Amino acid sequence: MVNYKELGLVNTREMFKRAINGGYAIPAFNFNNMEQLQAIVKASSDLKSPVILQVSSGARKYANQTLLQYMAQGAVEYAKELGCAHPEIALHLDHGNSFELCKSCVDMGFSSVMIDGSALPYEENVALTKQVVEYAHQFDVTVEGELGVLAGVEDEVVAAESHYTKPEEVIDFVSRTGVDSLAISIGTSHGAYKFTPEQCTRDPKTGKLVPPPLAFDVLDAIMVKLPGFPIVLHGSSSVPQEYVDMINEFGGKLPDAVGIPEEQLRKASKSAVCKINIDSDSRLAFTAAVRKVLAEKPGEFDPRKYCGPARDEMEKMYRHKILNVLGSDNKLAQLD
Ligand code: G3H
Ligand code: 13P
Ligand code: ZN
Repeated sequence: MVNYKELGLVNTREMFKRAINGGYAIPAFNFNNMEQLQAIVKASSDLKSPVILQVSSGARKYANQTLLQYMAQGAVEYAKELGCAHPEIALHLDHGNSFELCKSCVDMGFSSVMIDGSALPYEENVALTKQVVEYAHQFDVTVEGELGVLAGVEDEVVAAESHYTKPEEVIDFVSRTGVDSLAISIGTSHGAYKFTPEQCTRDPKTGKLVPPPLAFDVLDAIMVKLPGFPIVLHGSSSVPQEYVDMINEFGGKLPDAVGIPEEQLRKASKSAVCKINIDSDSRLAFTAAVRKVLAEKPGEFDPRKYCGPARDEMEKMYRHKILNVLGSDNKLAQLD
């Protein structure tokens, strides 16, 4: 059993409180490998942003849970080495789908876990979430629950259609489970294909797809029911067209990939939405850079020569999100 505090990590409670009061959102970036982690820590440390390192159960299998624990501990030390004397880094389980998985993460040094019971019948979601909260809170680990269903693949949780969160359920869910934050469904979804072309309109000038707006009315209704309570948005990659174009130019095939427009995420960040999940944009930045190097230099076979540029591209993207979308720069409790 390792407590996250021994690793230099923090839970999400204080960072969320300040984010809501300050009208910005904390970035929750998924990572699976060293280059992603380096880019996340570099961008967030330079910009003095609190950050959530997010690990899915797939990432845990891919990278090895023990290694991940040391990587998160290493991230704290790396941030200090980069000149950030008091980093605020949380290690969070993304889309936990069982009590056992959440417990295992708490026991291995995670500072925050998500229990995603959103695909379960309501009462089962309440019971499972409450069980995770009761365990996690003994160790001061914060817990995110979810109500409403996002379309797309959420690791082992798969949904063909989305269902918005019902505002009339949120008070009961939060009070009975004791969760610290609530992920909601207002029209975002996972992956690089968030909307079908039929759900979008097309910009007559560029021919690009224009997605339908998020359901801010549902978010507003939830905020009325739960004033000041931390809200989380999953599926919030914007799927930058420059990366999609680069991937397609250099041998890839991502037709009609479309994400959430950044203006909408900026608007959400100013509300009670205090955690915004981004994974796909990192995958796109990485893949675009790797494809470009390998297409332009077919003789290259040193992974550092293409993973290095991929890391730089991801760092640029993370910096942009922090500065121009979420507004979490210069928001550490101790800036010196
Ligand atoms: O919500 C899903 C995240 O993007 C994690 O994806 O399960 O493929 O690691 P993954
Ligand atoms: P994206 O696929 O939009 O990056 O969403 C990631 C996410 O919600 C992780 O939980
Ligand atoms: Zn998600």
